[in-house]
Amino acid sequence: TYVVTENCIKCKYTDCVEVCPVDCFHEGPNMLVIDPEECIDCTLCEPECPAEAILSEDDLPEGQEHFLELNEELSQDWPVLTEKKEPPEDADDWDGKPGKLDMLER
Ligand code: F3S
Repeated sequence: TYVVTENCIKCKYTDCVEVCPVDCFHEGPNMLVIDPEECIDCTLCEPECPAEAILSEDDLPEGQEHFLELNEELSQDWPVLTEKKEPPEDADDWDGKPGKLDMLER
């Protein structure tokens, strides 16, 4: 499965949802997650993310392994998003900033 990781937080570009053939992206206040039960490993979303926030579960860097569990948990609560929308105005300012997990809104 593919996993949305920390750099999505406050960037939320949503390019990813447009290419997903199984509509497995779920939208929270400032991040998207992938439902691992729905993801078919098609790989299409990974190169679409301008923030490079989408990774295969096999490629999760040290310290971000828990994002698999977080995607699983939050996708149960958040609604599906299938159409790209405007990112936050300051999305580019947050791209690559460390420590964004603390800013995750649920
Ligand atoms: Fe997030 Fe990247 Fe999608 S920033 S909303 S995973 S395009």
